[in-house]
Amino acid sequence: MNLLSQLATSFQHLFGADPLLICSPGRVNLIGEHTDYNEGFVLPAAIDKAIYLEVGRRSDDNIHFVAHDLSRTHQGSLSDLMPTHTWADYLLGVIAQFRLAGHKIGGINCVFSGTIPMGAGLSSSAALENGVGFALNELFGLGLDRITLLKLSQRAENEFVGAKVGIMDMFASMMGKADHVIKLDCRSLEYTYAPLRMEGISVVLCDSRVKHSLVTSEYNTRRAECEAGVRFLQTYYPEIKSLRDVTMAMLDQHLRDTEPLIYRRCAYVVQENQRLLDGVAALEENDIATFGQLMYGSHEGLSKWYEVSCPELDILVDIARQQPGVYGARMMGGGFGGCTINLVREESLEAFTDQIMKQYKARTGKDTYIHVCKIQDGTHVVDESVTV
Ligand code: GLA
Repeated sequence: MNLLSQLATSFQHLFGADPLLICSPGRVNLIGEHTDYNEGFVLPAAIDKAIYLEVGRRSDDNIHFVAHDLSRTHQGSLSDLMPTHTWADYLLGVIAQFRLAGHKIGGINCVFSGTIPMGAGLSSSAALENGVGFALNELFGLGLDRITLLKLSQRAENEFVGAKVGIMDMFASMMGKADHVIKLDCRSLEYTYAPLRMEGISVVLCDSRVKHSLVTSEYNTRRAECEAGVRFLQTYYPEIKSLRDVTMAMLDQHLRDTEPLIYRRCAYVVQENQRLLDGVAALEENDIATFGQLMYGSHEGLSKWYEVSCPELDILVDIARQQPGVYGARMMGGGFGGCTINLVREESLEAFTDQIMKQYKARTGKDTYIHVCKIQDGTHVVDESVTV
């Protein structure tokens, strides 16, 4: 039985009635990492790996969630929404934010499952949050727009789950458009869709199988280091609000010698924003070779200056860059594990897969998973005839 039939059967069996089926995708990010919470730019897209949720209204104020893959349930009530420090917090957090914002909702039943590997840095949490928010909006006829919904998801993760993540993951998952990347200005939330015209080139993810967690990782420390850099510079340039307003000249003059660690963190972010702008220009010219070089530059910065990589991710990039038909590779997402993103010529894909698997095993003792992704639409209601 395919995944969606299993979910439908499970929902029917537990709750009867006709639920709404939602698909909420994970994301990739081509370039622009750790820039979102510094009011910079990102270039993400939603992918064909997603969380699927069957969601129905209840006649009371109770909530009943079933994590189909984990065979776990959570039951509670709208009047008692406290963090559980489990997967249920991604759903509870969104419900709590809807209530705090004054949106009138009732109890729900929800059975979900998915094809996004957990802890692989593909934003399964943002997908889950967006999925339940999207369902609440539909089921209770709230009429909220997508930007409002994704901001509620981010607040759920920041306030309820306790991970101070930026807006990129929720934005990409909710706003994605098939065959397009999103150029997002995380300061103004202005965005444009750029067609991903990479004839004969695949977007390939190599999973280090090192699980990352943003709650316990150094993610929050990196944010604090960037904020410290901004505070230092504000004594010289009071108009600065974030690293978006900072130049390398300012950093060189005021931070390089006195605060070398903060300097490296901030310099990475300033340079990554520039790499993204150069990368977007290269994509417009269809110059994938230049784009690929910028990806290697991004990895180098993330690994050496921002220090959010890990040996396994460095090894994956190192192997990739030696393979024919590879334009670029870098670690993706928060870091400390998860996946690398690679641009690989289709005719080289088989040899690439073979070499990555063999050499990664030889150098780390670990297996890797390799996913070729398609760029898909953001969170949406699924027509019941679709099979997954
Ligand atoms: C995680 C966060 C995002 C972003 C990336 C790094 O995925 O959820 O907000 O900061 O890390 O670019």
